[in-house]
Amino acid sequence: MARHAHETQAAAQAQRVAFSEIFGPGEDPRIFFAPGRVNLMGAHLDYNGGPVMPMAINRGTFIAARRRTDGKLRMASTLEAGEFIGEVTTLARDNPRRTGTWADYPLGVALGLLAAEPAEPVGLDLLFGGNLPVGAGLSSSASICVGTALALDAMWGLQSPPMDRVHAALRSEREFVGVRCGIMDPYAVGLARPAHLLWLDCKDASHLHLPLDTERLAIAVADTGVRRELAQGEFNQRVSECGQAFRHLAPHVAGATCLRDIPFEVLLEQRTELEESVARRAEHVIREVERTFRARDSLLAGKPAGFGLEMTNAHASLRELFQVSCPELDTLVHSATALDFVAGSRLTGAGFGGCTVIIFDREREDELRARLSEDFRARHGTLPTVECFEGDLGPRELS
Ligand code: GLA
Repeated sequence: MARHAHETQAAAQAQRVAFSEIFGPGEDPRIFFAPGRVNLMGAHLDYNGGPVMPMAINRGTFIAARRRTDGKLRMASTLEAGEFIGEVTTLARDNPRRTGTWADYPLGVALGLLAAEPAEPVGLDLLFGGNLPVGAGLSSSASICVGTALALDAMWGLQSPPMDRVHAALRSEREFVGVRCGIMDPYAVGLARPAHLLWLDCKDASHLHLPLDTERLAIAVADTGVRRELAQGEFNQRVSECGQAFRHLAPHVAGATCLRDIPFEVLLEQRTELEESVARRAEHVIREVERTFRARDSLLAGKPAGFGLEMTNAHASLRELFQVSCPELDTLVHSATALDFVAGSRLTGAGFGGCTVIIFDREREDELRARLSEDFRARHGTLPTVECFEGDLGPRELS
């Protein structure tokens, strides 16, 4: 954990330096941080009302913030090109359009908070940056949105409860950016706790923290480096297909409010009535719900092998039924699960590239890294990035 704290401080300092280069000299900016997350079980279940098991990671978004005296809101990023500039007082009334850039995420949050008419909506310079790969399935978007909500809340003196900031982040992604995402990511970021997984039931948003045996186990994330431009469209298509399955199956199950409520037997009875791709999506969801409950039981019973098996089976289902994997992700899962000190592995996040997550014996980190790198290079000619995580303290201001 000491190494992690040092990394966070170094990234915060880099953000301060970049801030003065971009926005010029003056008062030191305040620095806010929000983590990313990795999801271990419950793939594509949040928008189907199922349970998920994410963990925040000590990588995320750093936001340097300083007041301006001219009432303008200026936002820039050290990670991506393009700036946003607008008038704070008229922003909500001006009803700005999406820019199609990274700035839409914080802009959507700002608009949401301004709609609540804060007492002191002063002008601000905001510089975004961080050490979380963008578009890798580690929830860079929820990290930037929850981080923005925290920074604006502090700079505008809103003092809203942490869960309000989580909801402001969610609304920005859904209503302004236009991703039909579930609740998992901002909750995982907002409810982070070190050495714990979050158990979040997305049907009613009830949640609890499950301890992880970090003496024995470590969680690694391996990044394929693959980024798919069309991933957002593919994601929304999966959401539509699940909705289609639910609308067809719901009349056969009294009281069903989401796909999670449909028993597998009902899908079997109705399968021939559904388009093949829609039936496959529904099968993944219904079986993944069962796997996620079993995984939780294994974790609570101190049986990591049982937990890992559910993860590896989840990957097969994501590949065959939900069809969101790619050859590079499959290589990483295949190499990891061939090792006797690995409990399980699967893709994490939406898929279509990005990262896998691996749960394994913490003593064997070097060996894991070496094996994954060797196999991956032999098949794909590049090296994956492999890193280990133990959770995070959650969104906060850094001193
Ligand atoms: C993306 C979405 C999440 C969730 C995952 C898949 O990360 O933002 O809401 O649906 O995909 O589990």
